[in-house]
Amino acid sequence: MAVHEAQSYKDPGTFEEQSRRKFLANATLAAGGVITLVLGVPLVTSLIPESLLNPGKSSGGTWADLPKSQFDKIAAGGDPIKITFDFKYADGYFPPEADEQFVWGIKLTPEQERNFKARRPDLYALETRVEYPVITQSYVIFSSICPHLGCRFAWVPDAKRFICPCHGSQFGPEGAKLAGPTPRGLDPLPFREKDGQAQVTWIQYKSGQAERLIVSYS
Ligand code: FES
Repeated sequence: MAVHEAQSYKDPGTFEEQSRRKFLANATLAAGGVITLVLGVPLVTSLIPESLLNPGKSSGGTWADLPKSQFDKIAAGGDPIKITFDFKYADGYFPPEADEQFVWGIKLTPEQERNFKARRPDLYALETRVEYPVITQSYVIFSSICPHLGCRFAWVPDAKRFICPCHGSQFGPEGAKLAGPTPRGLDPLPFREKDGQAQVTWIQYKSGQAERLIVSYS
């Protein structure tokens, strides 16, 4: 009896039986692949900034309102204006958290706008550019984070430049690097006007390097 069972175990069966087994095995593999795709793709894509998945889009994140009372102080060719605002910070599957940030806003004169690319070639070069429009309706909104090591710089009206208190990096009104250890100029943020409301997407770039690498965004 034992010998018979061993022999029947080795018996590959008829051609139809083999075909059916092969079909069932392939179907199981295919179903497993579909389940992996259905569950895996949203998991992976949720961890990648949308701007990297859709580089043609103007912004990958959410939009935060800039208070009108502060934004309206920006004048063409005038001093940069500090604008404090609230935004919701999204981090993977965690619920969004409210946070307060500030940015620096400028409005370019027609002449500044014509010369902007020449003054900020880093924002258009292949390795260091940003994937969204830098100038919107003549406005440029800068992140307040120093590209050197992440301190907060400030506009110094008497010097007519942004100066970082930590290691002395200095930037011109259009954010160009003028002095100090910073490896790049200031980082502009995605900006838009929607139904009369100025909005930005908060993006944090990796500090200490010339290339702009996104480390977080709202
Ligand atoms: S962090 Fe701004 S100069 Fe170093």
